[in-house]
Amino acid sequence: MLTRLRARGFKSLIDVELTLPQLTVLFGPNAAGKSNIIEAAQLLSAVTTRLTLADAFDGFTIRGNPLEAFAFPAGGLPALLERSRAGLTLEADLALGEETLRYRVGIQMRPESGSLTVDDEYLTRLDRHGVPKHGALIEPDDGHLVVRRSARGRPVSEQLGYNYTLISDRRLSGERYEHIERCRREFEQWRVYYLDPRVNMRAPRPPREVRDIGVLGQDIAPYLHRLQVEHPEPFAAVKRTLSALIPGIRNLEVELDEKRGLLDIAIEQEGRRVSSRIVSEGTLRVLAVCAIAANPWTHGLVAFEEPENGVHPRRLELLAQLLKSIAIDQGRQLIVTTHSPLFCAAMLRLTAGCREQMAMLNVQRDARGTTVKQIEFADSLFESGELAEGFSSQTADGIFEGLILRGILDE
Ligand SMILES: Nc1ncnc2c1ncn2[C@@H]1O[C@H](COP(=O)(O)OP(=O)(O)O)[C@@H](O)[C@H]1O
Ligand SMILES: [Mg+2]
Repeated sequence: MLTRLRARGFKSLIDVELTLPQLTVLFGPNAAGKSNIIEAAQLLSAVTTRLTLADAFDGFTIRGNPLEAFAFPAGGLPALLERSRAGLTLEADLALGEETLRYRVGIQMRPESGSLTVDDEYLTRLDRHGVPKHGALIEPDDGHLVVRRSARGRPVSEQLGYNYTLISDRRLSGERYEHIERCRREFEQWRVYYLDPRVNMRAPRPPREVRDIGVLGQDIAPYLHRLQVEHPEPFAAVKRTLSALIPGIRNLEVELDEKRGLLDIAIEQEGRRVSSRIVSEGTLRVLAVCAIAANPWTHGLVAFEEPENGVHPRRLELLAQLLKSIAIDQGRQLIVTTHSPLFCAAMLRLTAGCREQMAMLNVQRDARGTTVKQIEFADSLFESGELAEGFSSQTADGIFEGLILRGILDE
């Protein structure tokens, strides 16, 4: 479980630190940096599990080019391109069973050549008070990295400046590198989703060995197919939950087109069979949330962008219940971003009995970059007025946020 995240020099996160319980809701106006916070976690997971930094910065991980992951100086991208180096640092505290580990990685890019290297890496155990224990497992020292294999083993020295992290190096596994391996396994479990029901979730796919719907939801058909074949019970749960969230839905099946060898999701809605090619975006999104909730293969942190999108306001409460059950009942750590005051209100109502397991973090942006403020709701200080304020931005587009809140404009 991720209990603390700090990002420095990553996009709009100049220096942002947050404490995370079982369920975290990040809310705030547009362009405040909510997605950037989730991307920071995703990038951290990628740099600690992919083969190289280049792989981690590539493709589905984060939006934009690798260089755009580094915070722009005052002159924006052109000013960054003129620098000889750009750097970012990601740091996380991980509660793993009885132990808490702290991991930090610094990444440097040369804008001119595009090269990416590790310029800082640190792993240590923390004591009960959150203070690093003596003898870090990985720590920088005079241009090198010192790696301690076990409590008493002799340290080995590794070079700094590789194009991969030591955590991602599978050679550092087994008993002697127990903490490194545990740390890597934790990062491997993290899942971040930016569901794309417009294109990717509709594309026909063949059956495949997948254990997840994929970052964009692109593998939802092979995933549900595998679930249907190998784990009928969670599959039945997906079906039940989907029809509870969207009235009129009676059945869900994943069919194999034997001529083309491709899978198609068929949903029976109001007595008609509808293919996932034409089903509504809202239905696909809800289906994805149900599919993630039922995943029998992974159990680590899950982060969603705006799960409320495309869901009818009257159904928000049910969606909020589903998310709460993922986080609190199933014990799968959850982070969601939202720009829906209604969704926040529903989340708040539902978590009244378990507030210590939940955080509402208001994400805002000032001249320096993204800021995060924890909302205190211990003694019902957290009134709807404060919620509304949390959604309005201090900049000019606050005008529009206000209109959205009052229901005058659509998002
Ligand atoms: N490399 C960067 N340096 C500084 N700011 C950035 C960088 N990349 C993106 N941003 C800023 O981040 C903002 C988008 O943040 P995002 O997390 O998508 O907002 P939200 O999800 O809250 O709507 C953009 O307004 C953009 O200005
Ligand atoms: Mg966003």
